[in-house]
Amino acid sequence: MSRIVYVNGSFVPYDEARIPIMDRGFLFADGIYEVSAVIEGRLVDNEAHLARLERSLGEIRIRNPHSAAEWTRLEEELVSRNALTEGLVYMQVTRGVAERDFAFPADVSPTVVMFTQEKRMTDAPGAETGVAVITVPDLRWARRDIKSVALLAQVLAKQAAAEAGVAEAWMVEDGQVTEGGSSTAFIVTRDGCIVTRPLSHAILPGITRQALLRLAEETQLRIEERPFTPEEAKGAAEAFLTSATSLVMPVVSIDGRAVGEGRPGPIARRLRALYLEAARGTQPAA
Ligand code: PDD
Repeated sequence: MSRIVYVNGSFVPYDEARIPIMDRGFLFADGIYEVSAVIEGRLVDNEAHLARLERSLGEIRIRNPHSAAEWTRLEEELVSRNALTEGLVYMQVTRGVAERDFAFPADVSPTVVMFTQEKRMTDAPGAETGVAVITVPDLRWARRDIKSVALLAQVLAKQAAAEAGVAEAWMVEDGQVTEGGSSTAFIVTRDGCIVTRPLSHAILPGITRQALLRLAEETQLRIEERPFTPEEAKGAAEAFLTSATSLVMPVVSIDGRAVGEGRPGPIARRLRALYLEAARGTQPAA
């Protein structure tokens, strides 16, 4: 079966999909994107992802071309046409196609592109062993709350991680961890408190972060929303990261230094299990 993608109103084979070179997404990174996970053929936390998509578009004044119901129908059709059971749906909206000029063009309609990718998530190899991260300087712009397609700083951060043979780069600004290249960063203090940076323009408001904090609260785990330093993270009892496609992933080493016992900790394991149960729509075991 050939891969089917969505471009501006049509489902087409990947080889036939075309975007003009004057698309402002290509020339200026003038666009935003979203990534929703698919588990057992079903979209996970999709309403929240679509709400963030709407917000990102609003912040850069691009009209949302679809209602949430329309987006959902398109996503579900794409999942079904590609027979996707586990992986992700990628959605991108750019300001559209116009002769190159920085300011917004008049009378332009947004470009919409969607595709699916298969990805092992529920039994990802790192979930059992935990993953390693390195820290890198955060080189990004000042509006990281917008899920912009301008990802060059993250590309460089994640390339540094790849070259170091680790799974993710935690970005650091003013001595504090902001977030991962494509994930939210968490630590667990030695007295069992979950710590993650508060929402602001400095980080993306992670949808998995939001779900995880709700689960932690329901489980009576203590949460503190505050910044933390790489040094505090290295001395923490546990660390983990969250994203639509990593779900909840234990972090067992930072800059080559073992976190806690150097194995996934009990809180990260428990939250991953709870998140998976919630994502699958089942009730957690008592
Ligand atoms: N990235 N922070 C950044 C910078 C991200 O790019 C992402 C997600 C997250 C986690 O957000 P969420 O829980 O909503 O996925 C945090 C996606 C998965 C990506 O770019 O592929």
